[in-house]
Amino acid sequence: MPILESKNVRAYYFTPRGHVKAVDGVNLTLERSIILGLAGESGCGKSTLVNTLMMNIYPPLHLIDGEIILDGKKISEMNKAMLKKNVWGVLVALVPQSALNALMPTKRVIDLIKDVIMHHMNVSNSELVSMAKKRFEELNLDVNALYMYPHELSGGMKQRAVIAVSTLLNPKLLIVDEPTSALDVSTQKQVLKMLIDLKKSKITESIIFVTHDIAVLRQIADWIAIMYAGKIVESGAADDILYNPEHPYTSSLIKAVITPEPEIRRRGLVALPGEPPDLLNPPKGCRFNPRCSKAIDICRVEEPSLEVKSNRLVACHSINS
Ligand SMILES: Nc1ncnc2c1ncn2[C@@H]1O[C@H](COP(=O)(O)OP(=O)(O)OP(=O)(O)O)[C@@H](O)[C@H]1O
Ligand SMILES: [Mg+2]
Repeated sequence: MPILESKNVRAYYFTPRGHVKAVDGVNLTLERSIILGLAGESGCGKSTLVNTLMMNIYPPLHLIDGEIILDGKKISEMNKAMLKKNVWGVLVALVPQSALNALMPTKRVIDLIKDVIMHHMNVSNSELVSMAKKRFEELNLDVNALYMYPHELSGGMKQRAVIAVSTLLNPKLLIVDEPTSALDVSTQKQVLKMLIDLKKSKITESIIFVTHDIAVLRQIADWIAIMYAGKIVESGAADDILYNPEHPYTSSLIKAVITPEPEIRRRGLVALPGEPPDLLNPPKGCRFNPRCSKAIDICRVEEPSLEVKSNRLVACHSINS
């Protein structure tokens, strides 16, 4: 049984100007013991998708359609009380994109842990402290950091502490949203290593790693899904996607990364011509067609579906025809 399955999942932001179709028909299967890299340009819906996949959905975001099955349980039918009791923290935990900015400056790391655990478990303060110490030791993190305030920790240490805290209840699936984007390269490596260690030591079974920087995925992902304008356009084994991309969007993302301009490389910026569409009113047919050099007539009219092609799933008329 896969750890996670989504079937035709749609989640829209209801705004005064209309519905922002940030997640629009996502079918995704994540097998167990896999690190999945989810990549795509800024604004493609990656954060909305991972929040939706764990039912962390609050207005103006609404689940419009589809089923989400996590560890065999249909969580798309659960209410918030059930999710809090049986799902969040235990089956799935999320380190949100803005986790570092959201740290309260007046709270020590150990207080943050109390906040995270309180919802889920009836444990005493002393039990909690010993659980946290044990986890920090397992991950080779300085236990003294537990008693420090955020400003006393480096960016890399803060990120690792936040990740360690999120895994205290051994979630089967850990989702990390852009955990390395704000860090320099050597600090990035420490965070990547820690994530790999979390999986090796079976603290967590599977990981979804979200990034707009596809190059990082070479170091960590077993499997990759590429997202564009609210949809998965290609997914498969990491090596197949990185070294032999089929979808024109995947190819452009990879080409943009190997651009020789150091500034662009350094910042992981993607230098693709044009920009992703406005999701209030996405283009008809394939959403990538206005930017695609391989677009043919049908691409402007009919939406391509994900189909099996050379060991992966890909949604593209020009290569599937
Ligand atoms: N609260 C909101 N209300 C309305 N639209 C929103 C809201 N949050 C996000 N959006 C829109 O939803 C779309 C997807 O945003 P999302 O943050 O999921 O993308 P992303 O791929 O995670 O981008 P990034 O790489 O910048 O983190 C974007 O068009 C964004 O403007
Ligand atoms: Mg995001």
